[in-house]
Amino acid sequence: MTIQWFPGHMTKAKRTIESQIKLVDMVIELRDARVPNASANPLLESLIQQKPRLLVFTKKDMADATVSSIWKKYFETQGISVLFLDANQDPIKKLILHSSQDVMKEKHDRDRRRGIRPRPIRAMILGIPNVGKSTLINRLAAKKVVQVANRPGVTQAIKWIAVDPMLQVMDTPGVLWPKFESELVGYRLALTGAIKEQILPIEKVFEFGMKYLYEHYPQILLQRYGIQLETFDLDVIYQTIVDKYGFKMGGNVVDRQRVMSMFMADLRQDKLGPISWELPDESAI
Ligand code: G4P
Repeated sequence: MTIQWFPGHMTKAKRTIESQIKLVDMVIELRDARVPNASANPLLESLIQQKPRLLVFTKKDMADATVSSIWKKYFETQGISVLFLDANQDPIKKLILHSSQDVMKEKHDRDRRRGIRPRPIRAMILGIPNVGKSTLINRLAAKKVVQVANRPGVTQAIKWIAVDPMLQVMDTPGVLWPKFESELVGYRLALTGAIKEQILPIEKVFEFGMKYLYEHYPQILLQRYGIQLETFDLDVIYQTIVDKYGFKMGGNVVDRQRVMSMFMADLRQDKLGPISWELPDESAI
């Protein structure tokens, strides 16, 4: 299955990124810490070409800390610079500045040897929707960045946010639309809110979510919904939740729709606690 949303937007986004990438020294790619691979856009590699990259995983606070540390090692062993953060709470300026300087260190050392004084690093923030791009940019800027709507025919001048004398960030992020070849990636994006849940059949998203929790976080199923299973059984799950919350339609029929909606709302409101919805390939560590 290959589903790609908003192909028109994607073409425009691609063109914008391709023209702006020349202006930056490095790319700050944002992904969701709960789904480190599923929240990547496969086009990014070719779009950013050989630019140095810092991989920032946002929503660290919503992910499972143990799993995140495995992911961190997974990327670091591939020589990729990574940073896991809570974009709302962490000291963003300091963290992003230090990591960006690390990423650019080799080039700056080379420049210095040639007698060139490094100029401020220019970086572009990229990522799929809802991954925290605006949150990060607004926190890097001293004041809120006002979004100016694009007017046809008017080329907007690129504005730079001076995060520090040594770091500038483009004030508008590059939006990459999610794309997936596997439905598992789609389920993960729906569970974490990167794509609207209506894009995929909610029954499938719900089943994937429940099965994943049963396999990896059974205590969450027990604490939140009173579900305890010997073997995975979707009917028992629906029945337990219906009995607990009284979601019945006329004639005592189980209201599955309400069960699924409640689960998705619980996820959006972060009521289940930290969950990582994707595990790295352990053999690669
Ligand atoms: P985008 O530009 O990439 O589309 O994402 P945006 O910054 O709009 O962030 C999407 C939502 O994710 C926001 O929540 C934002 O607060 C939240 N978010 C971003 N980074 C983090 C993080 O590291 N931890 C947590 N817990 N949340 C994060 P929202 O509900 O849409 O808005 P609001 O809660 O900020 O009002």
